[in-house]
Amino acid sequence: MFITIEGGEGVGKSTNIAYIADQLSDANITCIVTREPGGTPLAEDIRQLLLSDRDEAIADNTELLLMFASRAQHIAGVIEPALARGDWVICDRFTDATYAYQGGGRGLSEAKIANLEQWVQEDLRPDITILFDAPITVGMSRAGQRGELDRIERERAAFFENVRNCYLMLAERHSDRFRTVDASETLGRVQASLQPIIAEMKHQFLVRSKT
Ligand code: TMP
Repeated sequence: MFITIEGGEGVGKSTNIAYIADQLSDANITCIVTREPGGTPLAEDIRQLLLSDRDEAIADNTELLLMFASRAQHIAGVIEPALARGDWVICDRFTDATYAYQGGGRGLSEAKIANLEQWVQEDLRPDITILFDAPITVGMSRAGQRGELDRIERERAAFFENVRNCYLMLAERHSDRFRTVDASETLGRVQASLQPIIAEMKHQFLVRSKT
């Protein structure tokens, strides 16, 4: 199963990914945790290019292509081999982030992103996507507490409003695979709302192991 985790800045993805991975491991499901942009040495180098500060502004198309360059490397080097072995993959962000940030945030056309998605991923799409959703004021103040902000985290509030709205639109459009969690709640409540989603994954594991 290919599971992706999405959401704006400071919504608590990392803590909850560790929680989900633990719960799946307890159920004897072998899963790897990885992230985008990044996930292989070369893809992590591309991440550095994307997130570090520089004097030269990165053009929107360059940013988009670097996201997909990193993704192509990650798919070939990590995601496809893991899925081929029968392992589950939990990926911290994937192409929905490109629709939300480069599409919703930067204003690049959905058609352009869809073309690259098809070209780079062919048939590969997530089976389940968990969206951690919170008002941007909540997420931004948590992200600020983590320390220095990276190039994208320093965008204006309007950028993150557009990112959030795009995520919510994607969750509605792909309601078959999206599960939305209210990330503005306490950690205990967020983890409680993850329970039915984790139960659904474990059920899928049993179904898939029988076929
Ligand atoms: P992270 O902070 O969740 O690791 O994500 C790194 C940043 O990269 C985050 O600000 C979101 C951004 N991003 C995009 O803009 N487009 C993408 O396709 C991905 C995967 C991430």
